[in-house]
Amino acid sequence: MSAEIRIKELRERLNYLNYKYYVEAQPIATDYEFDMLLRELQDLEALHPEFDDPNSPTRRVGSDLTNAFRSVQHAYPMLSLSNTYSPDELHEWIDKTQREVGDEVELDCELKYDGTAISLTYENDRLVRAVTRGDGTQGDDVTENVRTIKCIPLELQAPSGLPSFEVRGEIFMTYTTFDRLNKEREEAGEQLFANPRNAAAGTLKLQQSKIVAKRNLQFTAYQLEGRDLPFASHSQSMDALRRWGFPVSSATLVSKSKEDVDNYIARWNDERNEIAMPIDGVVIKVNSYAARRALGRTSKAPKWAVAYKFKAEQALTQLQSVTFQVGRTGAITPVANLAPVHLAGTTVKRATLHNADQIEALDLRIGDMVYVEKGGEIIPKVTGVELSERPADSRPLEYITTCPECGTELVRYEGEAKHYCPNQSGCRPQILGRIIHFIRRKAMNIETLGEETVELLFDSGLINCVADIYDLRAEQLAVLPRLGEKSAANIIQSIRTSTQVPFHRVLFALGIRFVGETTAKYLAAHFRSMDAVMAATREELLETEEIGGKIADAIIDYLADEQNRTIIERLRKAGLQFETEQKSTLSESLAGLSFVISGTFADHSRDELKAMIEAHGGKNLAAVSSNTSYLLAGDKIGPSKLQKANKLGVKIISEQEFIAMIGGDNFNNETTPEQPSEETKAEPIPIQGSLF
Ligand code: IVH
Repeated sequence: MSAEIRIKELRERLNYLNYKYYVEAQPIATDYEFDMLLRELQDLEALHPEFDDPNSPTRRVGSDLTNAFRSVQHAYPMLSLSNTYSPDELHEWIDKTQREVGDEVELDCELKYDGTAISLTYENDRLVRAVTRGDGTQGDDVTENVRTIKCIPLELQAPSGLPSFEVRGEIFMTYTTFDRLNKEREEAGEQLFANPRNAAAGTLKLQQSKIVAKRNLQFTAYQLEGRDLPFASHSQSMDALRRWGFPVSSATLVSKSKEDVDNYIARWNDERNEIAMPIDGVVIKVNSYAARRALGRTSKAPKWAVAYKFKAEQALTQLQSVTFQVGRTGAITPVANLAPVHLAGTTVKRATLHNADQIEALDLRIGDMVYVEKGGEIIPKVTGVELSERPADSRPLEYITTCPECGTELVRYEGEAKHYCPNQSGCRPQILGRIIHFIRRKAMNIETLGEETVELLFDSGLINCVADIYDLRAEQLAVLPRLGEKSAANIIQSIRTSTQVPFHRVLFALGIRFVGETTAKYLAAHFRSMDAVMAATREELLETEEIGGKIADAIIDYLADEQNRTIIERLRKAGLQFETEQKSTLSESLAGLSFVISGTFADHSRDELKAMIEAHGGKNLAAVSSNTSYLLAGDKIGPSKLQKANKLGVKIISEQEFIAMIGGDNFNNETTPEQPSEETKAEPIPIQGSLF
């Protein structure tokens, strides 16, 4: 069989498996089978760049090249929806609509997903473009990122018979993914997303599609746009979208009765906390396209639809006390301790107060009756005070000025809302937090040690920092309560094994503020050794992909601390991996040269070019700077990159010139970019009530 035919066959099969897994949530192949087919396709594509296809299922894993988002005009404006929180207003809208187009008008009720809107353009049944809503007339081209969302068909499952059309819908994040993401960010000392909506919108605008691919974004379609569509109504269009392979919610209702609409709203208001995806209301749309045309639109919103928004669920309860938690990074979080109250399916006893500004803005006082809300967020928050119930003798709450754990005076860094305890090396929760972070599975993987044992070891004076772990002896552990010789031996063994953990995980394990798993990987790939990271200037750190000023400053601060440097030296002596393993290279012909790739190329994908550069000893950079040796320019190159290269006198070369530089196209398979890892295969979303 020719490579071309096999590639086509593999792409079709993988697209179908993806569809069964991510859209229908009915997997028909094991992960292993899927991965083997994907790998075969990746290998064939690397050998045959002439059959490159931006819609190949291999593109679902994303790339780590920097995306620049082009602004694109919408062919049909992306309007917003008029909305209401009031049943009376909704009834008025229904009455008015019925007066205008007749009371036989069918109303289509749908869930209002709380994510971010996207417009997907298909030409000849293939995805060609994905654009955000932007200002409604033009948005950002986020196609590369959207290609990584597994439930979005890159090619339709069944022919549409249309030359082109647009599918609009919502990109969102399930609560489970949101929680996991925030947990990871918290452990890495990164800023948390306030709610799944912000997380989805923020992810969609990430500059690297490879990270987007790991975030498990979801999509649901709710609108079809196009010229001469062969459908008379919205529900017909949605049925077609389902046939073509799009995820379309089945939690819809078409009815002519106001009462049915009310019941639909009441049902989903009750059940909204039981489904996997965040919803913030219901959308009621006129079903018939003819009736829609008759109703028309205003400049902002169609008159044929309205959103009924759910009120955030609220409860009133008493604020009994405020406690202050100290995190691993020393950040202080005030927590409200409340008289237990039932809210949105759970009993709430505590709520976050975020920081001192928020307490002041609310003028919170102990004994106050406060409103707690669960909006799109999982953690309840205090949103207001019932002043009519304020005790007469209450006094404003004073924010702490010293650390509740170690008594050190708190500091507030410029531009940050939180207070911090600066006593990194002497404050119990900070020390314990750092050690517990260090032993995590994704860091040094010494989880046999466990949080409780870490506390015991700390309290008995055996460990005070992460380096002390490597001085532990089995006999010291064996005498601890609940341990014994066997567990002690196991722990010592996993401590020893941890010295083989790769360099990027060691970097992550150190717990430098804002240096999460991904950032650590970039740092390790860029600098290749701890010595190089330690010697790097701020400017050099900024040249690393995905590293901005805040992260660079945090790294510099961390390394400027004498105690941290001592810990690093002790870890080096203990035998931890302080260098990135050398990748096999084809040659060193590009050693010392750095490249920025921009645009699209005729013969190779950007990933391939990138891999070729590395295979020949060169370095890939994300942005043009005075350190760039060459700008490898393809079609549709960003004008700002060109301008910058010209200004800085960076040489601009074509794909052919580049190939000539490395002595022809002898690209070896071994050096293809990273295979998709376990992490890229996301779980299908748990679907309660089978929404799709
Ligand atoms: S229809 C002309 N249907 O709500 C308006 N929108 O507040 C077409 N949304 O930008 C939108 N679920 O992002 C529609 N079932 C649904 C929706 C929905 C969520 C979002 C959408 C829109 C926003 C307006």
